[in-house]
Amino acid sequence: MERIRVATSREYDVVIGGGILSQLGELMKPLIKGRTCAILADDTTSSLFGEAVRASVSSAGFKTVEYIIPHGEESKSAENFIAILNFLAENKLTRSDCIVALGGGVVGDLSGFVASSFLRGIPFVQVPTTLLAAVDSSVGGKTAINLSAGKNLAGAFYQPCLCLCDTDIIKNLPEDIFADGMAEVIKYGAIKSVRVLELIKLGAYENLEEIIAECVRIKRDVVSEDEFDTGLRQLLNFGHTPAHAIEKLSGFEISHGKAVAAGMCIMARAAENMGLCDKGIAAETEELCRAFGLPTSCVFSPEAMVEVAMSDKKRGAGGITLVVPKTRGESVLRKVPDCEIIEFFASGAEERK
Ligand code: GLY
Repeated sequence: MERIRVATSREYDVVIGGGILSQLGELMKPLIKGRTCAILADDTTSSLFGEAVRASVSSAGFKTVEYIIPHGEESKSAENFIAILNFLAENKLTRSDCIVALGGGVVGDLSGFVASSFLRGIPFVQVPTTLLAAVDSSVGGKTAINLSAGKNLAGAFYQPCLCLCDTDIIKNLPEDIFADGMAEVIKYGAIKSVRVLELIKLGAYENLEEIIAECVRIKRDVVSEDEFDTGLRQLLNFGHTPAHAIEKLSGFEISHGKAVAAGMCIMARAAENMGLCDKGIAAETEELCRAFGLPTSCVFSPEAMVEVAMSDKKRGAGGITLVVPKTRGESVLRKVPDCEIIEFFASGAEERK
């Protein structure tokens, strides 16, 4: 079992290991003063792991209540946000009680935002059940819901008090969902860790605990330095500028992980073609993505992608900060004026054979 301390405004441990879901209650006990635990889950995670979570927290002395949302991105809504706040109030949770978020990014983001708002903030525990949530969204305190104008437009930086990742859950994910998370794993390798790249090649399933731990350590280091996303944290967005455009242009039919994979390959090819990184970076990025059945390009034109990227409501004034590979296991931030973004998207568009 790995225990990684995250030193943000609220310090907490990320605990990673096989079969550790049963230890959830005992790990929560010293952190939570109250006796009620609201488990927020979706229909899938509730039916697969709800009983194990209830058993563990009950045997540690907590009373449990449960709120279940339908699985899928549509549940990350303002309506569910309000409904869950009302549910917590009706069940008389206090600021000493806690929320357990049992699920992937949708459950984690929504629960975290609820936790940040209810009674101006109550403790919450992340139990990620997807690889993407385990290595990315459950760590670092970004919480959000979607508005009709776009994704993640309302939210808060609000850290959990514990994150428990049972690698047995992640190992047993459907291949497609596992692959989505692998895109973010490849991202960590590309931005900061030759070790992650090597571990993936040695076998993602065989080395899963070490891979997740390594990614969490990288994320921990970045968010400890830039918790509120004013600089360095943007490094975690490698491939994400084209990816957000791809997701949007596909009407969100293309999943985040698959869009990130295509986005990273576009950025790696562009960097190599423009002489900004070592030779071989693009080929390795493509090879790693292909190994998990992830796409390495997209059908959308560079012009259409730029248009979406430029309309991104979260974009700063006077250009976009892109994450550009430099060498193996190292990427850098590069502020690009609006007029140059097309060069990157066009130069990286063409897939290598
Ligand atoms: N997912 C990127 C971040 O947490 O900043």
